[in-house]
Amino acid sequence: MKKVLVLGDIHANYPALRAIWSYVRKHRFDRIINTGDFTVYSTFPNETIQWFLNRKNSISILGNTDRRILRILKGKNLKRPKKEEKRIMYYWTAETLLPHNVQYLNSLSRHTDFTIGGVRIGLFHGTCDDEDETLFPDAPETRFRELAKGSSFRVHLMGHSHTPYHKVIDGVHFINPGSVGRMFDGDPRTAFAILKLSSEEISVEHFRIPYPVEDVITGLKQNRLPDIYAKMYRMGRKLN
Ligand SMILES: [Fe+2]
Repeated sequence: MKKVLVLGDIHANYPALRAIWSYVRKHRFDRIINTGDFTVYSTFPNETIQWFLNRKNSISILGNTDRRILRILKGKNLKRPKKEEKRIMYYWTAETLLPHNVQYLNSLSRHTDFTIGGVRIGLFHGTCDDEDETLFPDAPETRFRELAKGSSFRVHLMGHSHTPYHKVIDGVHFINPGSVGRMFDGDPRTAFAILKLSSEEISVEHFRIPYPVEDVITGLKQNRLPDIYAKMYRMGRKLN
């Protein structure tokens, strides 16, 4: 039986990532998997990326926020998001990222696949069809069936919706660990999942644990970033 730590949508929330790592320290993971969105909305993008750089057993992909940061760094115009407070967060992140972390992001792809414990796994930020698709657990079952149809993966690990779930549709496991760093559901605690797999058995356990939210708020204040984000982190809700 292989054991995998599944993280995603960290959004530069290193205090939450650290809290998870200390909570799971008794486990030995064969792999650490990240569904993308390392960056933006909290002030620790360098610490977050460095944490993955230090873990050679990790597998990561880019999320939409990471792709936008790389576009800014290539000197391209950022069309979206349009809201000024969001644009401030993007440009602050692009200015703050250290060159070796930018290089690491540039080395990653938008999706990947691999085998663990004899199980074929696809890793996507959105879905296998569309990297920007937000697939919530209450999406029509027909959508899950379409994605499962002809899938060469028994497990789809996904992010982007910031909503933890595990659904088995037509024998395909759709798993989202939830968001480490930016909660949408009114619960400010951090989310992650532990996946156990072998060719006979696949099981997922989701966790929500507290972390020092005030460390995130201090980071936002010290960098004079929009106040609305402090409110969001305290509430665990998206307000813009
Ligand atoms: Fe995200």
